[in-house]
Amino acid sequence: MTIDTFTRKTIYPNIDVYTNLLPDIGMIYEYMKESEEDAKGQYFVSDWSKWSIFGTYSSYEMRDENHLTGKSSEFLERYRREKYFYDRIVEAYDVAVADYIEKNNIEMPPVWTKVNPSFCKYHSEIEYGQEADLTMQYHSDYFEAESEMPGNKFLITCTMYINDDYDGGEIAFYVNGDRVEYKPEPGSIVIFPSKPPYYHAVKKIKNGNKFLVRKFITYPFAGTQEWLSNQMNHGPIRWAEMEKTRLEKAKDDMPDVIFGPREEKEYSRMDIHEKLNAPETK
Ligand SMILES: [Fe+2]
Repeated sequence: MTIDTFTRKTIYPNIDVYTNLLPDIGMIYEYMKESEEDAKGQYFVSDWSKWSIFGTYSSYEMRDENHLTGKSSEFLERYRREKYFYDRIVEAYDVAVADYIEKNNIEMPPVWTKVNPSFCKYHSEIEYGQEADLTMQYHSDYFEAESEMPGNKFLITCTMYINDDYDGGEIAFYVNGDRVEYKPEPGSIVIFPSKPPYYHAVKKIKNGNKFLVRKFITYPFAGTQEWLSNQMNHGPIRWAEMEKTRLEKAKDDMPDVIFGPREEKEYSRMDIHEKLNAPETK
């Protein structure tokens, strides 16, 4: 199947929503639900493991075909279904990401990578105590405290939504003092920059589970000169310890660190929500 038509809607500068990429989204939803329920990583996508306090997720690893020899037709059918939703989703992402980069004139680094998609399911009614009206706190996917360190850096964030049989669950942006919300439609893809100031949160999900697919465009970064000479001066072991301490403190101070499975305790400290809900000053 190839995608030749789609719709793009700009909900804020550099935040685009793509729709009409997956006419068979209902089937994709059925296959994904089935995979989450009992596939246990046997077929194509990896096991749906615990995703912090949020729900479950199947990470970026896919299986090759070597394990299919001698398997039952039922097994092969399950493999086919998982591979079907994977291929359709990757294809839709490729179309949307290419359009996003071109249309927004995104300056791409010389080397960049499309990370494999990760399939996620949010449980309904995740409780946060005082922050209970958000399922995920405001954050940017690029963690600024790590900006000088070598490593893969997040450049573009893409989220595809699979279903809408739940209440709430809007993605809420807070960018340069502006607020924008989008209520996910099945098969739609939201694309935006991973770096601040593109802070975003997920509103509380009620009366059903929310399935989505996350994908990131990343690029390798060699580290700043200063960071590398610090590493040389302190020695790699001592420097690694110092950096660990600094990053732990940064995570306490700044809540913009959530982009994947994290420990529960890391969420309980967050107070940005309170700050964001203060009366508007502009
Ligand atoms: Fe995020």
